[in-house]
Amino acid sequence: MSGDRKVKIRLDGVWVEVTEGVQLAAALLELGFVSLRRSPTGQPRGALCAMGSCHECRAVIDGHRGVRSCLIRVRDQMRVETERDLGPSPLGALVISPSQRQVADLVVIGAGPAGLAAASAAAELGMDVLVVDESPAPGGRIWAHLKRAPAEARSWIERAERAGVRRLHGYSVTDGEPGRIQATSVASGESVEIECDRMVIATGARERFLPFPGWTLPGVVGAGALQSLIKGGLDVKGKRLVVAGTGPLLLAVAQLARQQGASVLLVEQASYFNRIPLLLRVLQSTTRVRQTWALWKSLRDVEKLSSSWPVKAEGHQRVERVHLRTENGIRIEEVDGLAVGFGLIPETRVAEGLGCRILDDGCVAVDHQQWTGVEGVYCAGEPTGIAGCEAAIDSGLVAGISAAGRAPRAHLRARVRRHQVWGAALEAAHSLRPELFHQGQGDVVLCRCEDVTAGSVDRSVSSREARVLCRIGMGPCQGRVCMAILQARGEIRSDSVRPPWSTSPGKGEISR
Ligand SMILES: Cc1cc2nc3c(=O)[nH]c(=O)nc-3n(C[C@H](O)[C@H](O)[C@H](O)COP(=O)(O)OP(=O)(O)OC[C@H]3O[C@@H](n4cnc5c(N)ncnc54)[C@H](O)[C@@H]3O)c2cc1C
Ligand code: FES
Repeated sequence: MSGDRKVKIRLDGVWVEVTEGVQLAAALLELGFVSLRRSPTGQPRGALCAMGSCHECRAVIDGHRGVRSCLIRVRDQMRVETERDLGPSPLGALVISPSQRQVADLVVIGAGPAGLAAASAAAELGMDVLVVDESPAPGGRIWAHLKRAPAEARSWIERAERAGVRRLHGYSVTDGEPGRIQATSVASGESVEIECDRMVIATGARERFLPFPGWTLPGVVGAGALQSLIKGGLDVKGKRLVVAGTGPLLLAVAQLARQQGASVLLVEQASYFNRIPLLLRVLQSTTRVRQTWALWKSLRDVEKLSSSWPVKAEGHQRVERVHLRTENGIRIEEVDGLAVGFGLIPETRVAEGLGCRILDDGCVAVDHQQWTGVEGVYCAGEPTGIAGCEAAIDSGLVAGISAAGRAPRAHLRARVRRHQVWGAALEAAHSLRPELFHQGQGDVVLCRCEDVTAGSVDRSVSSREARVLCRIGMGPCQGRVCMAILQARGEIRSDSVRPPWSTSPGKGEISR
């Protein structure tokens, strides 16, 4: 792992010094590159999700175009070119290279808490396990780290290593069928074919974004994205940040930003009244009381608004001001950045691509052994329901034990059910207010990849027509951001998933 060694990268033709091993998207922000590319209509755009979903942070890296800079760590002599002066990315221009081939008894897709638990359990029962993850290091979202993984993460990573689990990082699973997957390098587009008897899908969740005027301005990022960028090396000391949206993730993000020296305004759309039932549930568990008290104490000098939300972001080339609707009317805040997230959505593309059934609530259908109903395919963690880290670990253990052909103990399965009840309580406490869905109208962009406005989608008879005529959901993010907005508005339930399940880098020459 890197220390604080400085290395040189060639950025848009100029050599600059950067700390080795930091997240490239964070390094580019540190260097003042808030905008990394231009949208099809020429608007400046920068990183949004910082977890590989939106493709807004893409750049040309070492000659490969469309590389997601949030999934890449800085290396000495790396050549980076922003896409600000380039046309649309050549979609589908995969690097053609002879595929490597690997074989394993069990492939686990995702190295977050669920994936690490599943892999450890199966390997301890004698399976040869390979974990594939597009991130540069294990840990998923909650345990993402730059230098040293948190203690709980280390114990799972070490347990997996002791059991002989192999890991392949920096590869997205982009295609496959039960018994075979294709994983593609996020840095170069080269692919690996992996054959296996069984699979555990543990692809986690992504943030839900809801549009409002100005949400496409560089400097408006996801709440989890801010967390990922800070963990990736972004310095927020002395910055004024608004963290807005809904859910417990906002608290974790505000806490981290505050600890790193930022001045934070925390803005929750749910009312206090709506969260009372959740508080009563917290009071039933001493562990939860301790966790909540510690979190609340760490946020005591952070100003908090409830029943409030962002209605407009403004600025020249980047966000400078946020208009917030509060219980006392509109409040305008001068900011260095706005982090906004409206809850989490199960990341089910790989599961859907492998033929798993998706329930009406957007989760992958599984039985009491985390089996999806597709032969040899299990699913664990957030794709099966948003309920936090402990739920991910326990469902991962059930999936790993089941994939190894054993029956998980009844108490473990009971714990998974209890977590699901907690997840439902969290969801109910943070249900989204209708006003949030009316902000993305008229000229407000819904599809950031193709600059499709809400007005043009509303004029379409069906989502299929919108897709064909306006190209909504046809860009590099493949609908991960915009289709989720339409789903949240109840306009479409689901969209068919076709391979490749994630867009890969193509060839792109450095022009400077
Ligand atoms: C942005 C974000 C930040 C969060 N921060 C916190 C927090 O601070 N505290 C907290 O309690 N909870 C947090 N959560 C909730 C968190 O997701 C859970 O608590 C827990 O980490 C879920 O574990 P998991 O293993 O199900 O998924 P994750 O931890 O999300 O792991 C999923 C893994 O799958 C990988 N993956 C996904 N798709 C592919 C693919 N196609 N190919 C290869 N790899 C793939 C991802 O890179 C990721 O490493 C956060 C969630 C998000 C989305
Ligand atoms: S910011 Fe990198 S993919 Fe979204």
